Amino acid sequence: MRRVIFNKKGGVGKSTISCNLAAISASKGFKTLVIDLDTQGNSTHYLLGENAFRENQNATRKDNHLGLDKTLADFFNSTLGVSLFAKNAGDSLKESIHQTPFPNLDVLPSHPELEHQQSKLESRYKIFKLREALDKLGYYDHIYIDTPPALNFYTRSALIAADSCLIPFDCDDFSRQALYSLLETVEEIKQDHNAELTVEGIIVNQFQSRAKLPQRLVQELIDEGQPVMKAKLSPSVKIRESHSECQPLIHYAPKHKMTVEFMALFDELEG
Ligand SMILES: Nc1ncnc2c1ncn2[C@@H]1O[C@H](COP(=O)(O)OP(=O)(O)OP(=O)(O)O)[C@@H](O)[C@H]1O
Ligand SMILES: [Mg+2]
Repeated sequence: MRRVIFNKKGGVGKSTISCNLAAISASKGFKTLVIDLDTQGNSTHYLLGENAFRENQNATRKDNHLGLDKTLADFFNSTLGVSLFAKNAGDSLKESIHQTPFPNLDVLPSHPELEHQQSKLESRYKIFKLREALDKLGYYDHIYIDTPPALNFYTRSALIAADSCLIPFDCDDFSRQALYSLLETVEEIKQDHNAELTVEGIIVNQFQSRAKLPQRLVQELIDEGQPVMKAKLSPSVKIRESHSECQPLIHYAPKHKMTVEFMALFDELEG
């Protein structure tokens, strides 16, 4: 199962949700991969820790070609190669995968170079490459794809590569209005490029159950028939702590309320 976490709005919880659902999946014994398509590298940082992230940010292209620190930038770069001896895309993707300190959980790290590669990849129609590579990769039970807060080449690649889409919703009126445009984007990708793509769920994040506005906004979505997940995520400082410790909640605070909420969300998704 490949899930893309998608919302053009920044700071709604895409990286937090990708990494925490993935960590729970891995802790249950599923072979799990997080793909970090955002040049901010927040998921990369969260799962690989400070040192790996610093090395990655400072790494030059030359370093990457020495194979010291492969990232998604190497994978996308390989898709631009035209050598007759070029590796197949699945192999190139595999080489960029890193193990995290957490059992069963791997990550395909982001790199700042992705920013510069984007226009070249776009102009040479490489939008299906991620999907092709993941089709060849196999191995993983669950893949969570974290996307940037934009509808760019990488976000579209992810929507084309995924089986389903999760949309974090932060209970704000602007987000409510923006939701329709997100759903339209998913529908357009579905019609043009990925007939299998579904909106699996809208994930309500930072939900204050006693405040009127969030309650009303969520109820409106439910009344409209939108696929709002029953399991909701509360606001909690534990999330920021777990980011700063580079440990997903299931490892950082296994018994905390937030962790329980994330586990309920995972169970609801897995049926
Ligand atoms: N339920 C929550 N309670 C408290 N803080 C939260 C919660 N969810 C997310 N945050 C915080 O909000 C900020 C944004 O979260 P996150 O980075 O996951 O969002 P994002 O959508 O990936 O952002 P971006 O669009 O910049 O990639 C982070 O500082 C995170 O710790
Ligand atoms: Mg993010």
